[in-house]
Amino acid sequence: MPDACSDVSPLERRVDSLRRAIEKHNYDYYILDQPTATDAEYDAMWRELRELEAAHPELITPDSPTQRVGTTPSSRFNQIEHPVPMLSLSNVFNRGELDAWAARLERILPGAEFTYVTEPKVDGLAVALTYIDGVLQRGATRGDGVTGEDITVNLRTVKNIPLRLRESGGVPLPNAIEVRGEVFMRRADFEALNARIERDGGKTFMNPRNAAAGSLRQLDPNITAQRPLRLTAYGIGYAQGGASFRSHSEVLQLLRSFGFETSPDARANPSVDEAWAQCEAWLERRNGLAFEIDGVVIKVDDLRQQEELGFVSREPRWATAYKFPAIQQTTRINDIIVNVGRTGTLNPLALLEPVNIGGVIVSRATLHNEDEIRRKDIRVGDTVVVQRAGDVIPQVVQVLTERRTGDEREFVMPDHCPVCGSPTHRAEGEAARYCTNSACPAQLKRHVHHFVARGAMDIAGLGEKLADRFVDLGMIRDIGDIYSLDWERIAELEGLGELSASNLRAAVEASKDRPLARLVFGLGIPFVGERSSRLLADRFHSIDNLVAAEVETIDSVPGIGPVQAQGVADFLRTPENVAVIEKLRAAGVRMVDADAGDGPADGPLAGKTVVLTGRLSTMTRAEAENALRRAGANVAGSVSRKTSAVFAGEEAGSKAERAREFGVPVLDEDALHAVLGGEAIPNGKDQRS
Ligand code: IVH
Repeated sequence: MPDACSDVSPLERRVDSLRRAIEKHNYDYYILDQPTATDAEYDAMWRELRELEAAHPELITPDSPTQRVGTTPSSRFNQIEHPVPMLSLSNVFNRGELDAWAARLERILPGAEFTYVTEPKVDGLAVALTYIDGVLQRGATRGDGVTGEDITVNLRTVKNIPLRLRESGGVPLPNAIEVRGEVFMRRADFEALNARIERDGGKTFMNPRNAAAGSLRQLDPNITAQRPLRLTAYGIGYAQGGASFRSHSEVLQLLRSFGFETSPDARANPSVDEAWAQCEAWLERRNGLAFEIDGVVIKVDDLRQQEELGFVSREPRWATAYKFPAIQQTTRINDIIVNVGRTGTLNPLALLEPVNIGGVIVSRATLHNEDEIRRKDIRVGDTVVVQRAGDVIPQVVQVLTERRTGDEREFVMPDHCPVCGSPTHRAEGEAARYCTNSACPAQLKRHVHHFVARGAMDIAGLGEKLADRFVDLGMIRDIGDIYSLDWERIAELEGLGELSASNLRAAVEASKDRPLARLVFGLGIPFVGERSSRLLADRFHSIDNLVAAEVETIDSVPGIGPVQAQGVADFLRTPENVAVIEKLRAAGVRMVDADAGDGPADGPLAGKTVVLTGRLSTMTRAEAENALRRAGANVAGSVSRKTSAVFAGEEAGSKAERAREFGVPVLDEDALHAVLGGEAIPNGKDQRS
């Protein structure tokens, strides 16, 4: 330990503190499976240490983490020596760094032609499986790359690891082979596991990677056996006898023939351009995948070239990993506030020290409800891990309790509404707490915002600020008041004037003629979204029919569940809501849908059920849905075996995946236009893959 009084330069101190921080993180991550820093922080520390050591080689010590790979194996399992070291990968973070990596290869092997295989970097735990005469003998963790842990008994419980290699197509089995791959957990399995652990009062896992690592390193294999682990195989450590192979692509094929799951989307690319395009494509697909990936591995395909390129300090030159921008960062909770939602729910929200996550500055995260806050023990002043995945609202994943100073403050859900001061109430069996005042201005404002929004009555010009102002002025007391606003008074309001008032008035007038489904949606019935509103309008054709319908009748509408049905019935029997509907009717708002109903029975798509997913570039989702319905199709929200086709726009996610699993054709936007133009739905193979 450096003595603070001696002649230690600030540089040496920095190097020392980086090493300690990295060692601690290694221990927390690999041994305890309880990370105390995000991957991004860890990567940043590594980068800085590497750069400092490169600039000042005299500071390198044999015990620097840069001088070895991974971490000391835990003593809980028997240690085993890897016959061929398990290397780690260098990282690139952008196109420029990938180009620089490829340029180095070309310098080392001038004139060589390279094919680059890209495959997803699945976020799990690396393992090595030894098969002798086709039978699984041993399974080990990577450990520090040289020494790993013998976890054979646990790996034998992983369902998709072959205990015996399959002999297929006359491919001879090797006498001995070491297969390498990643053990991981799918997202859905991870969620279900965490739910189970939580129900049993246990400590949940922070992410699928930790869940996989924690499950594999159980001392009791019976516990591992109950964990939904899988292996994806991506390489061979060594092989004696059996078929020969000349490229990584052939290795993957061989592994498949032995019965291993490998990435179905590994691709051989003839140029760096194409390899980079794959990296970008994976980044786009990332959030829609069934499992978590943290990057893309790029490997030189030709094994002879691999050998010629060799490795530097335990990293092969022939492979690198494109690491995605982190979706998790650590930051501090400066305060916790409470918002009141449209249905009166009190939504706790963390105000964060602003932090850049994957290019977006995040300063708020949802905390869901009071149970969640208690379960995660979230306090004001805590340092937390925040995650932002795609369009999902940022969430607090975990509190880093070891960073507490003692000044943190526990949060208590208010027993009075922060907006109107009425008592709040939490019903038994419900997670949410509600403001009990149905006339609470916060609820009313949200309600108005919802009613005038684009998917509902679409009143252009009546933005949230203006709506709030009308509520504050007492001009809007319920949504019915929107149709009897005092236009002269509005024209005199500051910042508005005659022209704005008359434009707004025209927009309000125009909204009276919206289709029934929009009105149903705009009413803000609990649990009833745009699609359900459409189903209800199609089935009942008028508000009066809907009001008159029994719960059972509503429940019998395909696509409407019992909770929604009860919600609709309760809502439409509440006197305040009935009064609002009557007010809207008196104002001339359309209550019936003349052309609602099922699509024409003889349309070109009659009898077909289709699903839309992803972002379309030539029309909105609503326009596409309407056009499909006009052609007679039934537009469903989820994919089943009976689905006739899935139309996938940009960033299509799990629905397209599910369709592929079921063999349902996945069609692009051009095909959508063709089908709308009267062409038959093309059958069979996915034209996009
Ligand atoms: S190749 C020398 N391929 O990433 C090649 N690794 O830091 C080393 N990983 O420890 C591994 N998916 O756990 C390779 N398709 C893939 C991978 C992959 C995930 C992990 C593996 C390794 C780490 C590299």
